[in-house]
Amino acid sequence: MVQTLTVLGLESSCDDTAAAIVRQTEGAKAEILSSIVHGQTELHSAYGGVVPEIAARAHAEKLDVCVIQALEKAGMALGDIDAIAVTAGPGLIGGVISGVMCAKGLSAATGLPLIGVNHLAGHALTPRLTDGIAFPYLMLLVSGGHCQYLIAHSPEDFTRLGGTIDDAPGEAFDKTARLLGLPQPGGPSVEAEAKSGDPKRFRFPRPLLDRPGCDLSFSGLKTALMRTRDQIVTEKGGLTRQDRADLCAGFQQAVVETLAEKTRRAIALYLEQDPDEPVIAVAGGVAANSAIRAALETVCGEFDARFTAPPLALCTDNAAMIAFAGLERFRSGARDGLDLMARPRWPLDQSSPAMLGSGKKGAKA
Ligand code: KG4
Ligand code: ZN
Repeated sequence: MVQTLTVLGLESSCDDTAAAIVRQTEGAKAEILSSIVHGQTELHSAYGGVVPEIAARAHAEKLDVCVIQALEKAGMALGDIDAIAVTAGPGLIGGVISGVMCAKGLSAATGLPLIGVNHLAGHALTPRLTDGIAFPYLMLLVSGGHCQYLIAHSPEDFTRLGGTIDDAPGEAFDKTARLLGLPQPGGPSVEAEAKSGDPKRFRFPRPLLDRPGCDLSFSGLKTALMRTRDQIVTEKGGLTRQDRADLCAGFQQAVVETLAEKTRRAIALYLEQDPDEPVIAVAGGVAANSAIRAALETVCGEFDARFTAPPLALCTDNAAMIAFAGLERFRSGARDGLDLMARPRWPLDQSSPAMLGSGKKGAKA
């Protein structure tokens, strides 16, 4: 029998509190009935990064509001829902606990099944939500907290081909902006400055290109930028607008070329799976960068592979992706109990070695 499922999703693993309702009839495209996101940028802006305790408290205050708004927007009551999906990790643990406890409360009160979702699976399954992409496809997650190449085989099965060994690219953009006195979030400010800059004036390192594989590193790039900035300040007494634009352009060019080359390597590994219609998807806030997007699209063209990027609102943290990932798990028979644990670290690919480091946006898993 063809089954239609309606799932409520909750997300609170970083600095966005979100609730959404997604419905899908088996074999058809999924529908987002509502997607509510309450960001916390203002709460953290004075501290230069996300403060975990402030984030957790704000999530606890906002989650029920988000659920009410998501139900209202969809014109539904809890009785119309089939299951409750919640991000159970990885992320800032206080926030993840807030979401898991809220979902458990709703599940206990209504008797609805509870489904714990890996936040990274939420991002990685988004191309199926938005474009109905078939498995296996290659996914590049690039955000302020994540950076990894994944082959998605099924809702529960991912192979991590490589990822950052230190900073995520978004973090590197944010730090660059801070070093140059540009506003946060750094990505859009650095991209805007780079437009009037000369990418060839400063040659920054292309980290790990000399090593085989798809691992990435961005912390050395930030240090190189800081040294160059200090050298200019020592020599000239300060930075001109053009210096700043050239520094941004040089930095962005290094990120673009590194991601392009690592993506070539990841695609070559993915094509070994012999997919019928090769698809490379990108998600995460950094996917908003037009130079990066253009470079990835060109690389996909070299391999005759389709390139897809979800709309920005679904690239960045949201609960529609959690509801959809929960729906896919639910359909395949997965259920969690009230003993569901919140996990600060939770690698998608359990067989690959743990990633190092924990950025300002929590564990990179
Ligand atoms: O996915 P996201 O909203 O949050 C998580 O990190 O989970 O990504 C935010 C990151 C920030 O570091 C921001 O600076 C970066 O994405 N970003 C960009 C651009 N827009 C946002 N980075 C480069 N270029 C952009 N245009
Ligand atoms: Zn995320």
